[in-house]
Formats: sequence, structure tokens, C-alpha cells
Amino acid sequence: MFDQNRVYFFDTTLRDGEQAAGVNLNVAEKLQIAKQLEKMRMDVIEAGFPASSPGDFSCVQAISREIKKVTVCGLARTKEGDIRAAAQALAPAENPRLHVFLATSPIHMEYKLNMTPEEVMAECRSGVSLARSLVSEVEFSAEDASRSDVEFLIKVFKIAVESGATILNIPDTVGYALPEEFQKLCRTIIGEVNAPDNVIYSVHTHNDLGLATANSLAGVRAGVRQVEGTINGMGERGGNAAIEEVVMGLKTRSEHYKLQTNIDTKRLYPVSRLVSRLSGVFVPPNKAVVGANAFAHEAGVHQHGVLINRETYEIIKAEDVGCTPAVMVLGKHSGRHAFKDRLESMGYNLDDIQLTKAFEIFKKLCDEKKEATDADIEAIVADEVFSAKPEFRYQLKEYTVFVGPGMTTATIVLTRDDVELKDAATGNGPVDAAYSAIKRIIGIDPKLESFSIKATSERSNALGEAQVVLSMNGLKAQGNGASTDVIKASVRAYVNAVNRLYSVAAVKDVKLGNGNVNGNGNGNGAKNNGRAMAAAMGK
Ligand code: KIV
Ligand code: ZN
Repeated sequence: MFDQNRVYFFDTTLRDGEQAAGVNLNVAEKLQIAKQLEKMRMDVIEAGFPASSPGDFSCVQAISREIKKVTVCGLARTKEGDIRAAAQALAPAENPRLHVFLATSPIHMEYKLNMTPEEVMAECRSGVSLARSLVSEVEFSAEDASRSDVEFLIKVFKIAVESGATILNIPDTVGYALPEEFQKLCRTIIGEVNAPDNVIYSVHTHNDLGLATANSLAGVRAGVRQVEGTINGMGERGGNAAIEEVVMGLKTRSEHYKLQTNIDTKRLYPVSRLVSRLSGVFVPPNKAVVGANAFAHEAGVHQHGVLINRETYEIIKAEDVGCTPAVMVLGKHSGRHAFKDRLESMGYNLDDIQLTKAFEIFKKLCDEKKEATDADIEAIVADEVFSAKPEFRYQLKEYTVFVGPGMTTATIVLTRDDVELKDAATGNGPVDAAYSAIKRIIGIDPKLESFSIKATSERSNALGEAQVVLSMNGLKAQGNGASTDVIKASVRAYVNAVNRLYSVAAVKDVKLGNGNVNGNGNGNGAKNNGRAMAAAMGK
């Protein structure tokens, strides 16, 4: 039975959040995030949409196996195949939940589902009943609820309850609702569906008009007791409701809402960093609750006020969301234990092999720059431990760049299945030349959608962190790279993005190129290598 004095949080970072353009998390990364969500005492983790791809199926299964303190949820359409796949992926879970969704708005029913309202009602009944026969807890979502006819919506929700759903979700799928009308809609549904006490209502809001948090809180005021969202508000288009904002809204204005949550708010900032790092989606500095400037005061008047009394300009304490500067700087003399402790406080849980690798890199980094900041540590862990996976297609072995007057030449050596692949190219600067050489090796020509590089701190010996987004044949993937050498960081980011592009292509069954191990993806590698090298060297 749900506690009516509590708001339950349903995290869909790994499902709806991952639908954000260019985001692609693999099983290890998703598990890492799920473990931190568990520590944060999230109530439900939506781990994926098992029928959508073998990768999603494996993620839901892996998270169901490993996460025991939180309800693990899998998404399904009302189709039998989807529901059976979700139930199968959730089988190892201690507390599984099957989440069935079906659109109810006129536009979705006509153009997407091609179904009449009567057919939708029948589909809801059969889908929810089947789900309930396989998994003990079923959530039903009326997709695009905020643009649906209210009377029809009420009928569909009644059918969902009769068929065994105990969580009724009201999504504002396209972020169209306004807080007052959304509150009214939720109130009407709760009043009219008149479900038994074991049923809980939920909201799932999108941020197309920047109203996702406001709409979630409006739902809570109407009596909804589950809020769905993502960390950092990551998600398609404008994103989803940012969980950290809704949680802190309820906590900061507890005299208004008078409701509890189970979330450990001190975990919000570390989890936000982890998600940003692994997804490659940077958090804007002015982002509420977790942005880098969320607790910074620039104006003299503000600084003066805060020094005398913090509450003059701060409504949230930085430490309440876990945004506290490290007391101890780690350096050359720090041991494995201190390193592990720091990683854990930052939200990283590494196994022994990963820890050994990260510690080795950390030591090397300290040799180069004496001490390592949290940002440096995050960068090396995300880059070296999570991104340089043995199952990845290409690994960077070495690179050299020659910047001459009027021409830059780069030579790149990659390995694939332990076979060395080498090529060279010229370009407008070192990064351009290196990327051309990589393209010659891999034999495909993805479009460079974006390239950015930033330093982990203001110091001149800071790590450079590069991010590359590539697209090809309708697929997109991002890659990150970190190094004290910014060209190396840029090359690593590119190779990483190529690997991820191949991973997405495999999951979506899209062909990118042959990529044969002897060299170029177009099969001309060995032959081209010599010519390219000669051309690049000006011979
Ligand atoms: O936005 C939406 O409607 C969804 C549903 C699947 C809940 O993500
Ligand atoms: Zn959604």
C-alpha cells in the first residue's frame, strides 16, 4: 500500500532520458547509474524498453539482477511481444514493475496508432491484463494524456484499473500543459476514476515549454503521489522533469506541500555529475539545484548579504544536495584507499579491476600535474574506465602530429582485435589532420556534428576534456576523451564516438561500412595506407 503522505519518485533517466539525441549508454554505464540511484533511495528505476532492442533487454535484465532495494521497471507497448519481453527481462528483479503505455489523444490514436477510441479501450484491457498475469505490479500510462479528451481518458483509466494496474500515469508527453490546467486535469481524473486505495496516481512531464517541474508539482498538489523524471532533466527535445528540482521543490517548500520523500538529497549533486559525465550531456552552469553556478554569488551586494546571512540569497544549502568541495586534495602520495573513498563520494562504484586501472591512471596523472582535482578524477574514470572498453571496435594506440608552416600532418595508429591499423593525413590544424587520418583507417565518413573542448579547472596544467558528436545513416553518437594533452583528448573523443556509433548501429541493425580488420572499412586499408602515408608526408 502506498503512503499518501509521501511522494514516490520514478526515475526514467535510463529509458526516457537516454532517448535524448546523441545519448547512448551501455550496460556498464547504466548499471553504474542505477547503483547510484539505489543509494539515493530512488523508489522506482525504469531501466529500459526491453522490446525496443537487444541492448535495452540486456540492460533491464542486468539491472533486475543487481538492484535489489528499488523497484525495477521495464516499459512495453500493449503488444503481446513487448509485454512478454519486458516480463522476461524483469524476471530476476526482486520488485519488478511492468509499465504499459498506450496513446489516448485524438492525434495519436488517428495518426500513430491508426485505432478508433473503442479499439484503444480494448487494447488497454488486453495489454494490462496480460501484463498483470505476468508481473505482480503494473503501471499504465495514457500517452499524450494532456491532449486527450478527459471523459475518454477517465474511461481508459477505469479499464486499466479493472485489468489490474495499480499505478495510473498521466503524461504530458509533448510538454504542452500549463500548471493550472494540468492540476485541474489530475484532480478531475483522481476524482472521477475513483480507484481503490491501493492505486496511486503519477505524473510524467516533459519540458518543451520549460514547465515540467511546475507541472509535476501541480500534479502533486492535485493528489498525485508518484512523480516521474530524469536526472538533470535529460530527455528528448526539451527533456523531462528534472528529479532534483522536484525533490528540492518539495523539500524547500515543505510548509506548502507537507509531504515526505525518501530521497537522500545529499546524493543529488554526485548523481547529476555522474549522469552528465557518462551521457556526455553537459549541465548548464545556471541549471537549478545542480548547475556549477547554482550556489555562486557574483554581485557584490549578494556576496555581502550571503556573508552576513546565507539566507539573504540562498534558499538551498549546497551541502544539502551534496555539492561540497573536497576537503582533501588527492595527489602523488595518496593511496588506493583514499582514491577509492573519493570515487565513492563522487558516485562511482568501481569493481577491483576498474579500480586498479583508474588508480594507475590517477598515479600517472599525478606524476604529470602533482595533484588531481575531483574534475580530473571524474574525467579519467569516465574516459578510461567506462569508455575504453575491450569490446569496443577501435582503440587508440598512438598518434603523432607535425605542425609545419602551412601544413599539419597527423599519423594515427589504432588497433582492432589486436591488429594495428595505421594511416596519416594532412589537415587544417592537428585535430583536423588527426580526424582525417582516423577516417582513412576506419573507412567511413561520419559527419562531425559537434566538437568541443574544455579544461577541468582554471589551471594551465588542467586536463582537457573533448566531446565529439558524430552522425551517419540516421544514427548519432557522442564520445568523450580526457588528457593533459588536448590533441590526444580530441583524438580519444573521436575514436570513442566512432566506437559508440558502431555500437548503436549494431543495436539498430544499420550498416555503417565493412570496417575490416586489415585496414579501411571499405576494404582498401592495406593498399591505401602506404599511399596516404606518402601523401601526408609530402612524397
Ligand atoms: O512521454 C511519455 O508519454 C512517455 C510514456 C511512455 C510514459 O514517455
Ligand atoms: Zn516521456
